[in-house]
Amino acid sequence: MVRTVQSVINGQPVTDAPGGIVTTVNPADTSVEIARVELGDADTFVAACRAAKDAQAGWAATPAPVRGRVIQQMGRIVEANKEALARLVTAEIGKPYAESLGEVQEIIDTCDFFLGEGRRLYGMTVPSEMPDKQLFTFRKPVGVVAVITAGNFPVAVPAWYIVPALLCGNTCVWKPAEYSAAIADAFFQIMARAGAPAGAIQIVHTDGQTTSAGLEAALEAGVVDKIGFTGSSVVGRKIGELAGRHLQVPCLELGGKNPMVVMPDANMDLAVEGALFSAFGTAGQRCTSLGTAFIHDSIHDEFVEKFAAAAAGAAMGDPMHDVVLGPLMNQRFADSWMRHFDHVEAGKHEILGSDHVGMVTTDAPRSGFVGDPSNGLYGHPAIVTGITADDWLYREETFGPLCGVGRFGDLDEAIELANGHGYGLSSSIYTTDPTSAFRFRERISAGMLSINNSTSGAEAHLPFGGNGRSGNGSRQSGVWVLDQFTRWQSVNWDFAGKLQKAQMDVIDVSADLDFRLG
Ligand code: UN1
Repeated sequence: MVRTVQSVINGQPVTDAPGGIVTTVNPADTSVEIARVELGDADTFVAACRAAKDAQAGWAATPAPVRGRVIQQMGRIVEANKEALARLVTAEIGKPYAESLGEVQEIIDTCDFFLGEGRRLYGMTVPSEMPDKQLFTFRKPVGVVAVITAGNFPVAVPAWYIVPALLCGNTCVWKPAEYSAAIADAFFQIMARAGAPAGAIQIVHTDGQTTSAGLEAALEAGVVDKIGFTGSSVVGRKIGELAGRHLQVPCLELGGKNPMVVMPDANMDLAVEGALFSAFGTAGQRCTSLGTAFIHDSIHDEFVEKFAAAAAGAAMGDPMHDVVLGPLMNQRFADSWMRHFDHVEAGKHEILGSDHVGMVTTDAPRSGFVGDPSNGLYGHPAIVTGITADDWLYREETFGPLCGVGRFGDLDEAIELANGHGYGLSSSIYTTDPTSAFRFRERISAGMLSINNSTSGAEAHLPFGGNGRSGNGSRQSGVWVLDQFTRWQSVNWDFAGKLQKAQMDVIDVSADLDFRLG
């Protein structure tokens, strides 16, 4: 069944497709259409933001525990639809089904965390320097949040924005990736039934250029107060510039070139298992995917041999089966992934991990392939050895099943290599020596660090976010994201019945400052 997907504003579908129509297909078999997506134009985007603006004061006035109840119900509806939503994730972007279930679980975890936050959302009472005066802090919602997300985590990452944003009393306009529109629509239908008023969440399907025009117009019109964006560093920079012109600080979650450092004392098999999952899980299309594994000279060759054998033996194929590697998400991602091989230099680098390099085809088959690859967008897993700091592959995110391996002599060199590309999202070190682990923690520039665990797979209630080329320092998830979706309001309440001037009318305390012990 091909679904028709439309933008929804104030609960009403937008039916005239002013931005044209695109279709999405199953990347495991591109002859299967998943959705016919009726795109909006820039006006659609602005209209959605206006509707969200109109609804915001009413939603903010709804008591936070009641908003928490909406979040609770949202989590329960997601739970009841877990398998159906996960199947759709697998069908439209090719994520292996076990991972898709994990992704849907991440929404449930996020709802479970924030439903209780509705009964906290604490402010503080703060002592005043004056008598008969009280000081307080309150969290106030920011207003309308425009959420623009990628399709590699088509529901979990949007939930990281939308769930806390709603809980805090904001209203949302969600612009999902065009290539994961059916998944987005399904999640939207769930959210729309959780009990919030129709104006609280709008969904807009627009292409990239239209989104940027719509966003600019909405900012000009004063109907967007906060932008949450997950996607490439290039687009993130543009959004940051645009937001900055309006004195806004967006929440940016951008690319990564996540390093894994393997020390000589590491548990080698554990490190290989972690490298395999983080390099090739989600076909390497996580922002937390492993970029380059840096291996100590003394164990480098053994690691490479084991890692290459693990990649070559990893189950690959139909993502509804138990596979490590499914297809790339769509043709655009397959094409840009392939372009990275132009930077592999014969003589310097070696490519290991599969029978061929590039896409799996009849002429370049993958042994042990599960299912039929003929209409799918499958990329052979590629481990590129010999990566040094002057390589393109050292510096650029590859977003596909391609992982680099480099080597180092000591921890200082490893840390320099782990930081030198300028990204700073996730990182990992495998070691049994606490000193190495602590030194690495102190000096790694990434926002997230795993010790004896892979670069990907963050839990849903720890701060998630990066530094440098990976973002602007914003953090999602857990209590930390509350600072994205609320602003602190400071209140002082003076009941002295007279004007008390801060700093000037404070009671004087006299002390004998010349006193010294004999
Ligand atoms: C992303 O790729 O944008 O930590 C998010 C992880 C997942 C989220 C990835 N929980 O790998």
